[in-house]
Amino acid sequence: MQTLRCMRRAATYLLRSLPLLGCGGRQSALDPAGEHAETQAALFWWMTGGVVLIWLVVMGLALYAAWTPARTDLTGPRRLIVWGGVIVPTAVLTVLLVYGLSMLEPMLAPAAPSSLRVAVTGEQFWWRVRYQPPGASPVELANEIRLPVGDEVEFLLDSRDVIHSFWIPALGGKMDMIPGRQTRLRLVPTRVGEYRGVCAEYCGSSHAFMSFAVVVQERADFERWLSSQREPVPTPTTQLAERGRGLVLSNGCGACHTLRGTTADGRLGPDLTHVGGRLGLGAGLLPNQAADFERWLSETTRRKPGVHMPSFGMLPPEDVGAIATYLKGLE
Ligand code: CUA
Repeated sequence: MQTLRCMRRAATYLLRSLPLLGCGGRQSALDPAGEHAETQAALFWWMTGGVVLIWLVVMGLALYAAWTPARTDLTGPRRLIVWGGVIVPTAVLTVLLVYGLSMLEPMLAPAAPSSLRVAVTGEQFWWRVRYQPPGASPVELANEIRLPVGDEVEFLLDSRDVIHSFWIPALGGKMDMIPGRQTRLRLVPTRVGEYRGVCAEYCGSSHAFMSFAVVVQERADFERWLSSQREPVPTPTTQLAERGRGLVLSNGCGACHTLRGTTADGRLGPDLTHVGGRLGLGAGLLPNQAADFERWLSETTRRKPGVHMPSFGMLPPEDVGAIATYLKGLE
């Protein structure tokens, strides 16, 4: 009996707290850290307020009707139907529509020519990211986006395979990534912090394992980070890492991956030049420690069904360990 009561109480708490779970955190559209997300959150709360008000009025009328005796004189109810069923809903929906549409225009405005441009391509199941800063050469990386706070950024979005959808809930969005066509999304981050971006369109068996880290930084930190990403691959500092480097090059990793400054110049998979410094591994699937690289290399297809990269579980564990050490060192 006691256990049953405890379970019932736990279930009640859980159900009560569920609606609040989406209101905060690094992936919440209701905890905005960007101009567009703020507008969208405001629209959501106004809509919710309107819906709750209408629901209360309708429920009030329903209870009133249920508790009052039936009437034979129908002139009053007819007026109520005209007002409550036609005039008030039309007025409320018109106001909400005009309010919603007025928010749309600033979001669709083109970005200033001097804005930072970041091209992102949806792949199965990861994100190819190319920074195209005005007046500088582009830089390619993967699965991580850093932005300077307060500055406008324009994302140029496309896909290589199927339709994906680019969404950073805390900053605003979302926008479809369509093969053979470029879509654009303009965002202005307003708060420094770490956020999470996701694919918002079902794109295959590992759709749920396709996320990316978003870091909003002060301008100086961002510039420092971007110039570090421009650097070629760092030289290994230990014997183990040096052995890992040899194994990466001799096992054919370079056919799919680029390590700028080495002979590895493959274009199919993510650029690995600074993979060890990223906040996640496998497009947000794992944290980014040497042990995670080992897990990823030996269980790739089990961890991420449908991924193009084969597992390298056939390599001796000491070789996998050396490769993991080398890759983690690429910060
Ligand atoms: Cu990409 Cu879902």
